[in-house]
Amino acid sequence: MMRQTLIDGYAAARERLRGTGQEHLLKFWSDLSDPQRVELLSNLERIDLARCRPLIDRYVRQRPVFDPPQQIEPPNAFPAEPDAKLAGQYREAMQRGTAAIRAGRVAAFTVAGGQGSRLGYDGPKGGFPISPVRNASLFRLFAEGLLGTERRYGRRPRWYIMTSPSNHESTLASFEEHGYFGLRRDDIMFFSQGQMPAFLPDGRIALEEKHRIALSPDGHGGSLTALSASGALADMRERGIEQISYFQVDNPLVRAIDPLFVGLHLATESEMSSKAVTKADDLERVGNFCLADGKLGVIEYSDLPASLARARNADGSRRFDAGSIAIHVLDRGFVERVTTAGSSAELPWHRADKKVEMIDLATGQRIKPVGPNAVKLEMFVFDAIPLARNPLVLFTRREEEFSPVKNAEGADSPATTRRDMIRRAARWLEACGCTVPRRADGEPDALIEIAPSLALDAADLAERKNLPRSVARGETLLLI
Ligand code: UD1
Repeated sequence: MMRQTLIDGYAAARERLRGTGQEHLLKFWSDLSDPQRVELLSNLERIDLARCRPLIDRYVRQRPVFDPPQQIEPPNAFPAEPDAKLAGQYREAMQRGTAAIRAGRVAAFTVAGGQGSRLGYDGPKGGFPISPVRNASLFRLFAEGLLGTERRYGRRPRWYIMTSPSNHESTLASFEEHGYFGLRRDDIMFFSQGQMPAFLPDGRIALEEKHRIALSPDGHGGSLTALSASGALADMRERGIEQISYFQVDNPLVRAIDPLFVGLHLATESEMSSKAVTKADDLERVGNFCLADGKLGVIEYSDLPASLARARNADGSRRFDAGSIAIHVLDRGFVERVTTAGSSAELPWHRADKKVEMIDLATGQRIKPVGPNAVKLEMFVFDAIPLARNPLVLFTRREEEFSPVKNAEGADSPATTRRDMIRRAARWLEACGCTVPRRADGEPDALIEIAPSLALDAADLAERKNLPRSVARGETLLLI
């Protein structure tokens, strides 16, 4: 029976591959065991050859050159602190956002499908232990942020988590093992994103093993399709969720749901809103908000011409100063619109040349590459911004909301993120009247951690009873 299924499967696969330039995917069939053959056939079913074909011609066989828009201008953006003119609008937005959160109309959405290869951590990135005192994981901190939101607004937001096929099971296992970090299983919907094959520069799909296609996640832009395909959008519709608060798994300082941000999004009838920080330096590796030919969008650091990255205003300030921190609010209806079949709103693809261990298609031997030998294609979520009505940018303060863990060492590493968590906790305590010892270089001379379930910001902390009046030099202090 099994045999016959395999024979039929092989015949069908051969037929499907004929004339596509991908016939080599079955080349090693005779070397495979039956279970390996089953795996290869199921791999083949997962790739959409018709969709790949034009992408191979456009992005793989040739190297696309970034075509800069005719006119690039800095965007209009809401400031982090409102001036007198905006104060009223911010107050109203705050009320409006708060009402939406209280009514359960806003959900949190974490994209956690990346491979986290730069960090070199063996496990889903969200499981990475990061907090300075407890070593709490990224997932735990986000869960506690939602518990803090519930404490403050009387409503626990629903949480959508996007994984990828390679970390889906380990992500579920991590939540299961830790009792869902204080949440209920039913508060969370996990779903997996789509995959794209890696290609050889000549356009052939790479084999990771003789029986396995080299597949990787299709980029965080794939989250929009995944929200639709997984049933998450339908789930939201059923529950009356209208806004999606989107953030990346790598930033433990994030305010998972921010009433001001949600409120401004609603008040301006934006379909997709974004938070920005003032760039740390001209060439910081963050996306740049720009008006490209009049339309708001993000130009990735690798694409923004250096002359523009370095450009100055008359007063000497940086002209393109709004760095993307990958925090967005999206209307559920907007995601529905851009993912509806037949919609012309397909996001563009971006090419990345990567090192991929693979099978040499001529010899069947394993290749351990020394340099990039394969092409991966990804979509970026910020490419949806130009498709949105009234997209807005809100500046936020970096030290309050952005310190991603990306690299094992150096910038954006566990060391800098922990430092920033301690700095923020020290500032919040000081704002509440507590004395925090500082070293000669100004850094807090104590290990301090404030659980997000206890306080979401300094004002929230000020409402807690029994705060310490001072911290001792060298003390380890956990407020939970
Ligand atoms: C990203 C942004 C950059 C922004 C910076 C802020 C891109 C191309 N650039 O940089 O504009 O300033 O974050 O920190 O995104 N992910 C998935 N599925 C995927 C790929 C990624 O879920 O297929 C998730 C990752 O788990 C992670 C996030 O997306 O949470 C960021 O991905 P990463 O590739 O690390 O982006 P960066 O280059 O760091």
